[in-house]
Amino acid sequence: MKKILDLLSEEMGKAFEAAGYDSTLGRVTLSNRPDLCEYQCNGAMAGAKTYHKAPIAIANEVAVQLADSRVFKEAVAVAPGFLNLKLRESCLLELVQEMASSPKYGLEMPGHPKKIMIDYGGANVAKPLHVGHLRPAIIGESIKRICRYAGNECIGDVHLGDWGTPIGLVIMELQDRKPDLVYFDEDYQGEYPKEPPFTEAEFAEIYPYASARSKEDPAFRARALEATLKFQSGVPGYRALWKHIVDVSKVDLKRNYDSLHVEFDLWKGESDVNDLIPEMVAYMKEGGYAYISEGALVVDVKEETDTKEVPPCMILKSDGAALYNTTDLATIMERMRLYAPDEIIYITDKRQDLYFEQVFRCARKTKLVGPDTVLKFLGHGTMNGRDGKPFKTRDGGVMSLESLVGETKEEMYRKIREGREMPEEEARAVAQTVALSALKYGDLSNQTSKDYVFDIDRFTSFEGDTGPYILYTIVRIKSILNKYKERLGEADRNNLCGLSFKEASSESEKALEMVLVQWGTMIESAARELAPYRVCAYVYDLANAFNRFYHETKILGEEDQEKREGLIALLVLVRDVMETSVDLLGFAAPEKM
Ligand code: ARG
Repeated sequence: MKKILDLLSEEMGKAFEAAGYDSTLGRVTLSNRPDLCEYQCNGAMAGAKTYHKAPIAIANEVAVQLADSRVFKEAVAVAPGFLNLKLRESCLLELVQEMASSPKYGLEMPGHPKKIMIDYGGANVAKPLHVGHLRPAIIGESIKRICRYAGNECIGDVHLGDWGTPIGLVIMELQDRKPDLVYFDEDYQGEYPKEPPFTEAEFAEIYPYASARSKEDPAFRARALEATLKFQSGVPGYRALWKHIVDVSKVDLKRNYDSLHVEFDLWKGESDVNDLIPEMVAYMKEGGYAYISEGALVVDVKEETDTKEVPPCMILKSDGAALYNTTDLATIMERMRLYAPDEIIYITDKRQDLYFEQVFRCARKTKLVGPDTVLKFLGHGTMNGRDGKPFKTRDGGVMSLESLVGETKEEMYRKIREGREMPEEEARAVAQTVALSALKYGDLSNQTSKDYVFDIDRFTSFEGDTGPYILYTIVRIKSILNKYKERLGEADRNNLCGLSFKEASSESEKALEMVLVQWGTMIESAARELAPYRVCAYVYDLANAFNRFYHETKILGEEDQEKREGLIALLVLVRDVMETSVDLLGFAAPEKM
């Protein structure tokens, strides 16, 4: 269905034309003086020069043309030449009806859907997820859902860091603890055990221990680097240990991502492209792109217009080892072969900005991607503590993601218990659902590139621009609808969708409908700009408009049956649109709270 501002602009364009002016002057926007009007058009001002006429004269002539408009009930020319507009309730009603009866509430699907790969999450094997992993996971998940909803084919890939030094550290620490393991016996020929040689508890503790140790013990660090090269080059015992570590890690990571409702289509990792690297290196050498510099193999990626130094992209270290770059470039090669995406979007901390600039330039220069594939980097800001510095635990350590989620659930549980009577078990379940909204909304309502302060108290509040407030509003609507259903006979109960809408009969009802019909515009811009905060802003406006309407309107108490049914139809639509919105953000509403 047509987007509201396009529809209004079309009507306005016709009026300009009828008055003898160019129709493109009729661009209508939301009003920036909501106290005076709902929409406005500034075209008369823009046309004044071309037509050598005072803007107010043009505006007056256009306003006359709109006297009987079926779209605008008011079009007033005001000095110096604005057209202040109000919409007809009947026109709004038609839009609401069309929205309710169209798939995806009338969102237009693209003529050429894009295939988009989204690389997000950023987890590394062997290391537990920490608070730094929260943002890429929830931003990526939401962007994937938004782009998919907007009609594109989206493939989310976690792109595990499963090929690096953390694994070498774990292997060497294991060797020191259990030197007799068969994995370290170079003469061993048999099959390796199926069960990992460590318990889950040991696994959780071993990396942090080994990592700390490597900072104080250079010899240990050197051994770990050697172990890294060994598993990478396929030494059997080391490769077998690597596999155990990856498998155990994945179980833990999946559990963590599940608890955040973050779902990847692909669980690929850096290791998946190991076999492609020799081919890629040969290709880069043959093409004359790569050359040896101080022992290492590099590709120059600087450009004349650079204002800051962009160092060459290093493909292989002097010892022949692959780098983060190498696996990322080989992954691009693999993705092009297996999926041929129109776009690859990377979501990580914005401090990887220069790194991705190098990788993208290198991929373009070496023609790993053609000109039709877009490579995008979306860098997110940092989640800070109240002191404005990157979020830390009370004693200054790095907090695990699990603890952060746990603390948020606890706080949510406390707030839920505070306000209402609810059995323990139910309160726990509700707290879990609502806590997720607190975390995710607290993050997603900020522009991705900006830093924000993790304020557990504000995020878990039922008031203000928060996830719990949005869910509370949805639950409020659900509860009204349930009460309404209780009064109906069995047959009507399941047919709330069949009720007819009525023209808005109050300011607040009209205002609510006007927010609703922004849907298509909002989704399109959220998908185009990869901006979940637009969905947050929309659903917050909708919640506010609904609550105002709710406080000013008798709904169940409305005596006129047709009117009452119209209000219920509106509630059903608002509930559905809000639930779809929060699903795009990656959370859901409970039945009660
Ligand atoms: N594992 C990486 C890190 O911890 C993030 C991966 C981002 N994706 C990529 N294709 N490089 O920084």
